[in-house]
Amino acid sequence: MSLKKSFAAASMLAGAMTAMSFMSAGAAQAQGELVMYCAVQEEWCRAMTTAFERETGIKVSMTRKSSGEIYAQVKAEAANPRADIWWGGTGDPHMQAAEEGLTEAYKSPKMSELQDWAVRQWEQSKQRTVGIYSGALGFGYNTDLAQSKKTGDLKCWADLLKPELKDEVQVADPNSSGTAYTLLATIIQIMGEDKGFEYLKALHKNVNQYTKSGAAPAKATALGETTVGIAFMHDVVTMVVDKAPVKVVAPCEGTGYEIGSMSIIKGAKNLDNAKKFYDWALTPDAQKLGAAAKSYQVPSNKNTPVPPQAPKLSDVKLINFDFAKYGSSEERKRLLSKWDNEVKNLPK
Ligand code: G6P
Repeated sequence: MSLKKSFAAASMLAGAMTAMSFMSAGAAQAQGELVMYCAVQEEWCRAMTTAFERETGIKVSMTRKSSGEIYAQVKAEAANPRADIWWGGTGDPHMQAAEEGLTEAYKSPKMSELQDWAVRQWEQSKQRTVGIYSGALGFGYNTDLAQSKKTGDLKCWADLLKPELKDEVQVADPNSSGTAYTLLATIIQIMGEDKGFEYLKALHKNVNQYTKSGAAPAKATALGETTVGIAFMHDVVTMVVDKAPVKVVAPCEGTGYEIGSMSIIKGAKNLDNAKKFYDWALTPDAQKLGAAAKSYQVPSNKNTPVPPQAPKLSDVKLINFDFAKYGSSEERKRLLSKWDNEVKNLPK
């Protein structure tokens, strides 16, 4: 081929490629975008983003933050919402947002496939949030460190007050983390408010750090940075699956649990895409992505297989968690400011 001919061929090819890229840009435009705030583990957030983009051609812009942080951001942006869908994280800030009118009522055609606890969450929030998974709170401990510090077996919430665990317990801050708010609400429901706060003050003496994210203490326990990490049991299981010397504990006094939730943001700019995501996220195919990303919650669709690694909720002494009360705006605000005033700033 002469130089001239090959130049002509190359420019035709380039022209065709430009036309193709215009077409695909047009197709992406037609499908539009979705802005998602995601509150589960980063790996699972990314897997959901990629799979939904592949399935629909909708471009997802995802931000991962903890439950309480997303609530604060959604509230701050209420006059000009940036996000369309809030997927995951504990139910309490979703319930609070529902009550404060920050999220949109929606009835998905998938509702009939969901577990009762997921539907109840939706009913209690006047259709503004729905259960996507569930998991029990507990703690994990590093068996090597426990042995060297002679802590003995740790089985109960009460064991976390042992003097051997001074500066050896890690938990998140309930303002940012739904996991830590679940702990606060759990302890109060088990012990009553006065005794519960006494317990949290005593625990404070053993806490080395209040992290931002709820699952961080599970990772720190696996890495040997702390002897005990309070977290959802499934987050500790992930560490065990990764072969860390960690034991998962369902506390003997009983424990609370979460209903991980999903809400559509009021005034979402991409409302149709938010609904598409919502319906898709409730399907077994989408819910199966959790276990594939090593997140071992119990999924809310009855047809999604429960991962074999998921802690068996029937083996855990679950309390009768009052989601409506502890998700109400007034109670959540009151308890968080009480915790700030009476626990967080206590000298050690
Ligand atoms: C982890 C858990 C989820 C939980 C979430 C809450 O990702 O696997 O089940 O909903 O933490 O996060 P947060 O940082 O708000 O405690």
